[in-house]
Amino acid sequence: MTQRLAVRADLLDFPEDPGWQVDAGAAVRFRADHWLLVEDGRITGAQPGDEPPGEGWACVDQRGRLVLPGFVDTHVHAPQLDVIASFGTELLEWLNTYTFPAERKYADAGEAERGSALFLDSLLACGTTAASVFPTVHKVSAEALFQAAGQRDMRVLTGKVLMDRHAPDGLRDDVEQAERDCTDLIERWHGKGRAAYSVTPRFAATSTREQLHMAGRLCATHPGLYLQTHVAENRAEVRWMAELFPEARSYLDIYVQHGLMTPRSVFAHGIWLDDTDREVLREAGASIAFCPSSNMFIGSGLFDWGKTEGQGVHVNLGSDVGGGTALSMLRTMADGYKVLALQGQKLTAWKALYSATHGAARHLRLSHEIGHFAPGTLADFVVWDWAQGPVARRRIEVARDLHERVFAWMTLGDERNVVSTWVAGRELYRRPDLA
Ligand code: GUN
Ligand code: ZN
Repeated sequence: MTQRLAVRADLLDFPEDPGWQVDAGAAVRFRADHWLLVEDGRITGAQPGDEPPGEGWACVDQRGRLVLPGFVDTHVHAPQLDVIASFGTELLEWLNTYTFPAERKYADAGEAERGSALFLDSLLACGTTAASVFPTVHKVSAEALFQAAGQRDMRVLTGKVLMDRHAPDGLRDDVEQAERDCTDLIERWHGKGRAAYSVTPRFAATSTREQLHMAGRLCATHPGLYLQTHVAENRAEVRWMAELFPEARSYLDIYVQHGLMTPRSVFAHGIWLDDTDREVLREAGASIAFCPSSNMFIGSGLFDWGKTEGQGVHVNLGSDVGGGTALSMLRTMADGYKVLALQGQKLTAWKALYSATHGAARHLRLSHEIGHFAPGTLADFVVWDWAQGPVARRRIEVARDLHERVFAWMTLGDERNVVSTWVAGRELYRRPDLA
C-alpha cells in the first residue's frame, strides 16, 4: 500500500540558481502555508494549506514553521568531532597536534562505529541530510560510515582516506593494500542504496606519486566514482606542495597530472588558486567546497567566491568540521556571508541556501534525487522554527520583506531551530523538547 505523508508549513526551495541578486524571480520558490506531499518516500507535489489532502494521508501540521530540502555538506570529516574547537594552530600544526592523533583511534572498528553513528545523527540534528565525508585511513572507518549511512538511508559519499607518507605510525597505508581496500569497498558499497564511493587522497602531501596514480586509475576504471581532497588551503601548505612536486605547475596541477580532475571531483578550500587553476576546474566541471568556518578558525584565508564562480567554477559549501567549528550549515552560511563581506561581496540568503541544497545536488550530479522539491525526488527535508529566542523572534517579526526575513533566519539560526529532519519520507530526528 502506498504510504502517504503531507506536511503543512511554509515551503522554500530553489528551482534554479538565483545568482547574486536579492531579486531573484522564479529561482526562489516560496509557498507560504502549503502541504508538501510525499508518497512512498518521494515528493509528489504541494498544495495550498486550506486544501487538505484528504483521507489516506498522514498529516503533519507544522503551520508557522519553515520547510526546506535537507542541507548538503560537501566537505566534512566524521572522526574530527573529537578535535572540533582545538586551540591555537594553523593547518599543518593543527594536523600534527590534534587531528592525526585523534584519527588513529578509528583503527578500532568499535570506535569507528560509535563515531559514525554520533556523526550522522549530529548531521541530522543540524538539518543536514547528505554529505561528502572523510573518514580515516582505516578501511574499518569507511566501512562503519557506509554501514551507518545505510541504516539511516542517507545520501553519503565517502571512501577510505589514502595516505602513505608524511603521517605518523598507525595512519599510513601503502599503495597495494590501499588499492585492494578501495576496490573491495567500491564493489561492496558504490551504488548500493544511496551510498557512493569517493576516492579520498587526503591531500597531495600525504600520498606518494604512486598512490596518486593509483587513485587516478580507480577513477578512470570505475564509472561514477567521486573524488574528494584538499587544495590550496593554507600558504605554508601551498609552499610545501611546491617543494614536494616541483614538476607541477601549481598545487592543483598535481591532481591534474595524476588523473584526479573529474566532473565528480570535490576540492576543499581552493583559497590560493590562480586563474589557470580556475580555468582547469571550469573545463572539468569539478567543484570547490567553500568552508568559511574552517578558513577563519584555522586562519587559512578568505575564499573569493565571486571571482571563482565568475570564472565558471562550481562552488558549494562545506562545514569542514573539525577545522570548522560547527556542523550547522546555517552557521556555515553566516560565516560565509562574513568572509565575502570582508572582500566587498554580498552573499544573499538565496545564493547561500541554493548552494547548500539544489546547487550542491547539481554539482554532485544528484539533482534527480535531492536538493529541491521537484516531484520524483526523494523526500529529504527539514522542518525549521523561524526563530529561537526573543532576539531572533523580534528580528523575524519586523522584517519588511521575504529576503530580509529569510536572511535573518539564516544568520541567527542554528541547530536549535531544527524541529525535525526527514530522510526519504521518514522522520529520523525530532528536537528533544518536542518529542
Ligand atoms: N588538509 C589535509 N587534511 C586536512 C584536514 O583534515 N582538514 C583540513 N581543513 N585540511 C586538511
Ligand atoms: Zn577538510
